[in-house]
Amino acid sequence: MYGKMKDHLSKTLAEIKEAGLYKEERLIENAQQAAITVKGKEVLNFCANNYLGLSNHPRLIAAAQKIMERRGYGMSSVRFICGTQDIHKELEAAISDYFKTEDTILYAACFDANGGVFEPLFTEEDAIISDSLNHASIIDGVRLCKAKRYRYANADMADLERCLQEAQAQRFRIVVTDGVFSMDGNVAPMDQICDLAEKYDALVMVDESHSAGVVGPTGHGVSEQYGTYGRVDIYTGTLGKAFGGALGGFTTGRKEIIDLLRQRSRPYLFSNSLAPGIIGASLEVFKMLKENNTLHNKLVENVNYFRDKMTAAGFDIKPTQSAICAVMLYDAKLSQIYAARMQEEGIYVTGFYYPVVPKDQARIRVQISAGHEKEHLDKCIAAFIKVGKELGILK
Ligand SMILES: Cc1ncc(COP(=O)(O)O)c(C=O)c1O
Repeated sequence: MYGKMKDHLSKTLAEIKEAGLYKEERLIENAQQAAITVKGKEVLNFCANNYLGLSNHPRLIAAAQKIMERRGYGMSSVRFICGTQDIHKELEAAISDYFKTEDTILYAACFDANGGVFEPLFTEEDAIISDSLNHASIIDGVRLCKAKRYRYANADMADLERCLQEAQAQRFRIVVTDGVFSMDGNVAPMDQICDLAEKYDALVMVDESHSAGVVGPTGHGVSEQYGTYGRVDIYTGTLGKAFGGALGGFTTGRKEIIDLLRQRSRPYLFSNSLAPGIIGASLEVFKMLKENNTLHNKLVENVNYFRDKMTAAGFDIKPTQSAICAVMLYDAKLSQIYAARMQEEGIYVTGFYYPVVPKDQARIRVQISAGHEKEHLDKCIAAFIKVGKELGILK
């Protein structure tokens, strides 16, 4: 039987390669941080979600080691059978405290949080109204639920209003959005979303994966940025980006919602509990973020510096409101050639093109980190300018 399947898969793989869409993995030979080693050569990393520079922070490593000595390595159980330690509850409380919410439920990843949030809460009687640029995990989560689906153009409030009007016959409505959209770096207009949700009697959910730790005066996410505390019903997020970059996700929000998720959410009920090491390090993250705002301040400083210098150099940068700077090149092939030349210059960035971004909207997505020093940023900007001149992008 596999012979037939093998031929089919080989043909599909060849088609992916022919279309130039085959994803190769570039191997990093040291820890995840600003300066990484790839094929024996040191390059500066500008494409990790390591927004607060915590991925290789000594305090997190020490916290993980310490907690593993006390609570062991693995949980070997889902949460409700025998997979909950006191530290899991402590981390859920720390996340609720950070987002000013009533309760939190942990998942193995935010992909699971989004995959498991809709089906327990909404039925065919209800409506889910989703931004067109929402993350794949939200799209998959919505697919697992029988609610009627509506899709509005990215951050387009007139289109959202149209959807809300069309969805008035449904029992419950929920508006779902990413906090920061990962390809453009723009932030969802949460104040306007909440206004419309109130006007049309809908709940609000936001995925804070790229916004928590980044957006808002002290980096606490979209509700800090837009003053929407108490108006957002559900937040989902990841521990895999700003908050240390390991693994883990969460849903945080209204008490009854979280309570029901604990009873009915399938990725929570049928998947292993987060390992103690991750929990210990994550607790340390939230402790550090309470102590002072140093890391977030440095991130903001770095983003402003990079964006201003790149704009002054003549690059076309999407108006970012986050740590994501999209350097627009428009041409798919050019984005790949540019990224490859940048790597030769010691800068590790990724070029994105259709279908990851719309046709003729190819770009290099640069992700800034608090782990970057000014000389890293200068080196990156200098390489962009050098390659830009070489490829005729800059004069
Ligand atoms: C907006 C958004 N939501 C969810 C996820 C998934 O997060 P995790 O890696 O924790 O599964 C990502 C990761 O790329 C994301 O960007």
